[in-house]
Amino acid sequence: MKIKLNLNGRDREFEIAQNEYLLETLRNNHITSVKNGCDKSTCGACTVLMDGKPVLSCSVLSARADGHKITTVDGLQKEVEEISDFFGEEGADQCGFCNTGMALTVYALKHELKNPTDEQIKDYMVGNLCRCTGYHAQFKAIKSYLEVKK
Ligand code: FES
Repeated sequence: MKIKLNLNGRDREFEIAQNEYLLETLRNNHITSVKNGCDKSTCGACTVLMDGKPVLSCSVLSARADGHKITTVDGLQKEVEEISDFFGEEGADQCGFCNTGMALTVYALKHELKNPTDEQIKDYMVGNLCRCTGYHAQFKAIKSYLEVKK
């Protein structure tokens, strides 16, 4: 079957299997910035934005994404670079595998919650795991980013 996505601002058509997940569709079509960490909806490495909200692309059937706006880091390069700079300044960049998913979630957080509390930030980020366990530095980087970008 065919689906249509607005991918990073461009209308695209994809041929998919009925039981295919968005992560597979994207990676099979060379969108390799979307990472496959666990393939079991637990790590957040595969996060993309669907109509501006973070979703785990390994748990969204591609057919369900038909007609939706999908954003990966490729569509938000300037914003992701800014977020990455804050991570770098706090020493929160380690192996980097979680960075793309985490950056998209931070971007969505900034647009969804105004003046979030520490608990709200932690709750929002809970689906993005870091295998290097750099959570403290990441939290500081996210707080600094949100403060500067108010
Ligand atoms: Fe989707 Fe881990 S690859 S949550």
